[in-house]
Amino acid sequence: MDRRISRLAVVAGVFLLAIILLRSSYAAPSSDRPSAASFGRDVRFQPSSGLDWSTLPQRFPVPLTHQLPTGPPRRLGRVQHEFSKYKRDATTKKRQDAVRAAFVRSWNSYKKHAWLRDELTPVTGEGKTTFGGWAATMVDALDTLWIMDLHEDFFLAAAAAAQLDWANTTDTSVNLFETTIRHLGGLLSAYDLSGEPALLRKATELGNMIYMAFDTPNRLPGFWLNFENAKQGQQIAGINDPSASPCSLSLEMTRLTQLTGDVKYYDAISRVTDFLERTQNKSKLPGMWPKTINFRDETVNESGFTLGALADSLYEYLPKMAVILGGREPRYERMHLAAMDVVVDHLLFRPMLPDSEKHHDILFAGDAYVHPDSIDHNPEGQHLSCFTGGMFALGGKLFDIPEHVKIGERLARGCAWAYEAFPAGVMPEIFGIVPCSSAQGPCPWDEERWRKDGDESLKKGFSNARDPRYILRPEAIESLFILYRITGNEELRDVAWRMFQSIMASTETILANSAIADVTAQGGTTKLDSMESFWLAETLKYFYLIFSPPDLISLDEFVLNTEAHPFRRPK
Ligand SMILES: *[C@@H]1O[C@H](CO)[C@@H](O)[C@H](O)[C@H]1NC(C)=O
Ligand SMILES: *[C@@H]1O[C@H](CO)[C@@H](O)[C@H](O)[C@H]1NC(C)=O
Ligand SMILES: *[C@@H]1O[C@H](CO)[C@@H](O)[C@H](O)[C@H]1NC(C)=O
Repeated sequence: MDRRISRLAVVAGVFLLAIILLRSSYAAPSSDRPSAASFGRDVRFQPSSGLDWSTLPQRFPVPLTHQLPTGPPRRLGRVQHEFSKYKRDATTKKRQDAVRAAFVRSWNSYKKHAWLRDELTPVTGEGKTTFGGWAATMVDALDTLWIMDLHEDFFLAAAAAAQLDWANTTDTSVNLFETTIRHLGGLLSAYDLSGEPALLRKATELGNMIYMAFDTPNRLPGFWLNFENAKQGQQIAGINDPSASPCSLSLEMTRLTQLTGDVKYYDAISRVTDFLERTQNKSKLPGMWPKTINFRDETVNESGFTLGALADSLYEYLPKMAVILGGREPRYERMHLAAMDVVVDHLLFRPMLPDSEKHHDILFAGDAYVHPDSIDHNPEGQHLSCFTGGMFALGGKLFDIPEHVKIGERLARGCAWAYEAFPAGVMPEIFGIVPCSSAQGPCPWDEERWRKDGDESLKKGFSNARDPRYILRPEAIESLFILYRITGNEELRDVAWRMFQSIMASTETILANSAIADVTAQGGTTKLDSMESFWLAETLKYFYLIFSPPDLISLDEFVLNTEAHPFRRPK
């Protein structure tokens, strides 16, 4: 009897000790985590003035039938390279510091000259309203501040973000897509990293406003969220809207449902997914959706197809949705694979290069126009479509298609090559390429053809620089970053470093960095006095991460939205 009691006591003691150890090991990460209090800040939620959007009735209500999927998960492939022998070296650390210094310089100028405004004008040093007047640059930069260990400024910005007033705007409508990817994405990711509850409350408030945009007869949202129309229940889907606009709100709204437990956001975007599924094989290029869509009549008979402007993130979000749902929803993988087959057949092309460049085994993504009896392939590259390298490679790892990882690398290297082909060391917004005459097989250099189709003032391979600006876009470094994390190939970091140095040399102003007018200009660039919020949210974040240890925002723990905001993946 006594022995049993003492044995029980021992067992109980061991049990208790185990609990204490477990609890402290659970508690450890959060006690390491910086907190607002340790910086003397109060990240306090302050409700918006005016209307609480969640109290408005839906004019076109639907039962919330789309629940978060709970079925057995498909095992998604590991994304990152096995970096077991990873060592931090001095060169990489110096490069990381240089990127951080560039960020701090631009951020400090924003704080000084444009605090709480959407954008800083980086030449004249003023504030600018471009996205509703809700401090777009600040909200977009929150998670970069966290990732770069700039915690004091993170809490300064988080405190201001938690007090944003969605009723404080002079605009009558807001761009639904941009507000979702920048503001909602920025707040959700800052919450996912810091755990500050006020940020989730502010995100939820915005999510409730965005949710109202789905209150249309067929539950497909328009391009603009017009406040008055939303209040009056007079919204209707657009007849000629960019396909990416309603079709890439999914990652943000899904994360909001996961974090709040309120299924309505996920239900709303699932109805857009239903639409994508219904129409994927009904377009003029079955498997892809056109650049613009009549969302009101649900027709997809426009003739132009691209992975660039207008359609880009629709495609980007298919594999990423599979990730955020932990592989529990098979239709995103199906749609992704069906679309990529068509992309490989009709949009990707090789440039015709002189023999000295033959070691560049590269690809670009162009456009296709479908005529009644033929398909025109337009070999035009865009900075925006440079994200496709990362998309192919990520999908290739997740769904175990090694060929797609290779395609991704060739696309990423194509964009990097195009950077180095211009005097500014930076790629233009839009440019033409003289393609190989066949998709497969040898591609001999043809001087005659080059003289006829090419532009002899540009490097051999190019036919024009139709839009010669560079506006601080991130997509080229985004794909290099993803490819580096996937392959562990150190040489990609050298490519990224050259890219960073060129961007700095050609865009730096007295205050920050600016869009430039013409990357083909010799000897100096003309600054356009514009610094969109993605410079701090995306471009510098990707540069920082590629020079950081690979467990910082590991792609096996996070999935990034199209504005480079990392969301935590489900376990
Ligand atoms: C409204 O927003 C502007 C920035 O766009 C800010 O300067 C102003 O203080 C805000 N007003 C209120 C009442 O919050
Ligand atoms: C579209 O067609 C492809 C190829 O025939 C098929 O694999 C895919 O499942 C179809 N997609 C839908 C949504 O029906
Ligand atoms: C697309 O289809 C709609 C309805 O079927 C038709 O009215 C419209 O003319 C078509 N547009 C094109 C570009 O073919």
